Amino acid sequence: MSFNMTDQDQITNRSESAQGGKAVIEIKDLYKSFGDNHVLNGFNMTLMEGENLVVMGKSGSGKSVMIKCLVGLVKPDSGTVKVLGKEINSLDQQNLDELRSDIGFLFQGSALYDSMTVRENLEFPMRRHKEKLGVVADTEPLVREALENVGLAHTMDLMPVELSGGMKRRVALARTLILKPKVMLYDEPTSGLDPITSKEIIELMRSIQKKYGTSSLIITHDVDCARVISERMILLVDGINYAEGTYSQLSQSTDPKVDAFFKK
Ligand SMILES: Nc1ncnc2c1ncn2[C@@H]1O[C@H](COP(=O)(O)OP(=O)(O)OP(=O)(O)O)[C@@H](O)[C@H]1O
Ligand SMILES: [Mg+2]
Repeated sequence: MSFNMTDQDQITNRSESAQGGKAVIEIKDLYKSFGDNHVLNGFNMTLMEGENLVVMGKSGSGKSVMIKCLVGLVKPDSGTVKVLGKEINSLDQQNLDELRSDIGFLFQGSALYDSMTVRENLEFPMRRHKEKLGVVADTEPLVREALENVGLAHTMDLMPVELSGGMKRRVALARTLILKPKVMLYDEPTSGLDPITSKEIIELMRSIQKKYGTSSLIITHDVDCARVISERMILLVDGINYAEGTYSQLSQSTDPKVDAFFKK
């Protein structure tokens, strides 16, 4: 079993040879502090093409900071962050926008714009990323397809206030799908949802991955979500990738810091 792995090269090589694929995200030696708060202290991570990778960490451990570094919303102090072969922090605004159109990001809390209908919420990324979609005379078929993927085509003309929490999360997911992203980043996709709705969201994530062949990074502290969806997991502790392995490997660990994640 593979714990406390400081030798990231070894980890990366192993995943590459195990899957024979290529890396879609590579984080190397990521450091980020806010004043005296040293959040990331040399974090390493590789997401392989087509993979479902779960990153777990305690509240405040830096999961959202890490995922924001991947889309250029947080600037690291040092380290490299490559997404789809491009170093995020060396891109100008135009190239960053272009790259972002290949990345679906389900934010923690998954806010919809309250003053817009569901349809308008989904049209929003289409307007921002016109170059990728080309000229779309009629947006309705794309909006409908995205909503059908999450079973909510009938909500197209509703306002967010008319939807339940789980439905809002599904609409937010549909919104990320509209650009057919190559990589999906999920920040706590099931937080605040009841267990049944959480299961529905997890099922959707799986079906989306199957349908579009996306690679997914899933941040969660939901152990059930991790068990169902992960092919590989990384535990973020003290700002580093403290442990890495499959759910069954990690859940059987005797390392107290690892074991703590799996105790209910
Ligand atoms: N913009 C910011 N300015 C200052 N401190 C920040 C900023 N963003 C995050 N932090 C701090 O960085 C630490 C990590 O925050 P982060 O949001 O990444 O945690 P998390 O692991 O996602 O937690 P949770 O599970 O609660 O979502 C926290 O101590 C937080 O206060
Ligand atoms: Mg967070």
